[in-house]
Amino acid sequence: MRRPLVAGNWKMNGSLESVRNLLDGIKRGIDEVKNADVAVCPPFVFIPETEKLLAGSVIGWGGQDLSIESSGAYTGEVAASMLNDFGCQYVIVGHSERRTYHAESDELVAKKYAAAQAAGLVPILCVGETLEEREAGVTEQVVARQLDALINLAGVESLTDGVIAYEPVWAIGTGKTATPEQAQDVHAFIRGRVAAKSAEVADGVRILYGGSMKPDNAKELIGKPDIDGGLIGGASLKAEDFLGICTAAN
Ligand code: 13P
Repeated sequence: MRRPLVAGNWKMNGSLESVRNLLDGIKRGIDEVKNADVAVCPPFVFIPETEKLLAGSVIGWGGQDLSIESSGAYTGEVAASMLNDFGCQYVIVGHSERRTYHAESDELVAKKYAAAQAAGLVPILCVGETLEEREAGVTEQVVARQLDALINLAGVESLTDGVIAYEPVWAIGTGKTATPEQAQDVHAFIRGRVAAKSAEVADGVRILYGGSMKPDNAKELIGKPDIDGGLIGGASLKAEDFLGICTAAN
């Protein structure tokens, strides 16, 4: 049995005050959630405060991105070791917003995944197709290409302790959720592709769904056999909504 994971991707939102309120709210409701892992990924600057507030709780935390370099003259970048210094367990790599606005290639994303894993972090590899790609019928090709970049670079074993998040770009922040059947189809495809290299790794890897997941659609999505939790954007910014999704996963 795979243990579900619900991770909040706060993106570029929040203030010191709102972060304190949000974490306080999540902490107050989290005791009910015993059968799922829960984590939040704040903007870098709020990670020290997150560590302070979540240390000793069951809630994990992580970054939204990292550098492939370990240190040096890379203005604006953050290294895996720095995330370690502030107690991060997770880091998102290859989010579609990074791929789109920062031109991150499949190869760079795979290197980020490997850098995170080498530092002991659990990378969350985001994959997913755009609306044009879905309409052109190439969803599986796109997701396969994104996944294969990692498998070719780091081997299928790199997925043993990692996490994949299937996030159809057309469902992100649009209120348009993939139907549970649409999501399950792609999740099953991803697991099958991993299974072609290693059945054991495929059986253990957690595949999260992301894209307009809310408390009222989470249960049906996470209820599907190959959907092992969620990567939550908008709904992770409200304690009540985030907890509602955690409860659904639980
Ligand atoms: P929304 O939940 O706001 O659609 O965002 C999903 C997402 O991009 C999580 O990484």
